[in-house]
Amino acid sequence: MNKYQQKLLALESSGNLRVLNDFVHEGIYLKPLTPNAPYILNFASNDYLSLSTQSQAFLNSTLAKENIRFSSSSSRLLSGGFDIAQKLEALLESKFGKSCLLFNSGYSANIGLMESLARLELTLFLLDEFVHASIIDGIKLSRAHFRRYKHNNMLDLETKIQQLAHKYQQVIVVTEALFSMEGDLAFLLDIVALKKKYKNVKIYLDEAHSIGAYGNLGLGLAKELGCEIGIDFIMLAFGKAIASVGACILCEKDAKEYFVNSARSLIYSTALPPLNIAFSYFIFQKLAGFSAQRARLQELSMYLNKELHRLCSEFESLSVRGDMYIVSLILESNERVQNASTKLLSHNIYAPSIRYPTVPKNTARLRFSLNAGMDKSHITQTLEVLESFLQQEKLS
Ligand SMILES: Cc1ncc(COP(=O)(O)O)c(C=O)c1O
Repeated sequence: MNKYQQKLLALESSGNLRVLNDFVHEGIYLKPLTPNAPYILNFASNDYLSLSTQSQAFLNSTLAKENIRFSSSSSRLLSGGFDIAQKLEALLESKFGKSCLLFNSGYSANIGLMESLARLELTLFLLDEFVHASIIDGIKLSRAHFRRYKHNNMLDLETKIQQLAHKYQQVIVVTEALFSMEGDLAFLLDIVALKKKYKNVKIYLDEAHSIGAYGNLGLGLAKELGCEIGIDFIMLAFGKAIASVGACILCEKDAKEYFVNSARSLIYSTALPPLNIAFSYFIFQKLAGFSAQRARLQELSMYLNKELHRLCSEFESLSVRGDMYIVSLILESNERVQNASTKLLSHNIYAPSIRYPTVPKNTARLRFSLNAGMDKSHITQTLEVLESFLQQEKLS
């Protein structure tokens, strides 16, 4: 057995082997590529508003025809910049009142920006313990000092600021707006209030899962709370509710100029294709108008939450995390969650099992990401299968 095989076997025996999954996509359904495979209800997509359905309308538009090019063929610092990039930045600047700079993805933005920020001056990053891997990777790359504070625990955050802030030129508090694994919101107003108390504290907010789907106008948590002015860096990722690809940072003008000169993931990578930027522009222009989809998402979230809480009161060793359109049922062990996921799959329902090391040990979970294209009957059907799984488990 070679080293690769040994490693893979070890992952398999601990229930942590990951595999690629490719499908035919059809709205809220997936069809595996094997012959005669059935369509499967998809709870694993971040297309929360079902805006992937806008692709055809976009392709028929003049905007698409004017920007029909599948590669920018160069970094934006060379010749990969197009007027559509400026247009999208200007549109987002008008909505957020901050300068905007596009990146190729949320991952690329987070690693490039963490590393750039740390090079500016002596920096300490204070991270919510559940921030996304791309943030951790950026900080590791920067070799800056970092500490994690307990999830959404403002007391722990302030204690760490009090103990450590004076040793650094800047302290950057990093949080997600809507946490991708926990499905809950950051206590953003409290973090902004804390920042006002300490002069070298800045805030970096990752709105990957909130942009588009959260807030009256779909502009995410900071805008909804009206506290965007107090936040130094707001990262929007376009690959989730916006149903596109790419990302941007919203920040002050000088910071944008600095990132153009320092963010290696921006400088040393081919810029986004004009066609993809044009699609993001198309969606952002129409975003306020997708309120029916946001209302549907909220209705589905409330129903799923209520029903999962009911299951928790009837069966042991279960808990629910999240109160929005990302909801997880915690089943604790990797094995149990794997069995539940397999049972759902046998009924053509795909709710991914999220296991350690993606989430802490003994918090393995089924994660349900909702989609405005679903209706209540999809959720009812899913809950029936889950209930029968738990019932069988109880009897055995
Ligand atoms: C919170 C968060 N930030 C950043 C990213 C990375 O964004 P992208 O998929 O655009 O690279 C993700 C994606 O999984 C995410 O969940």
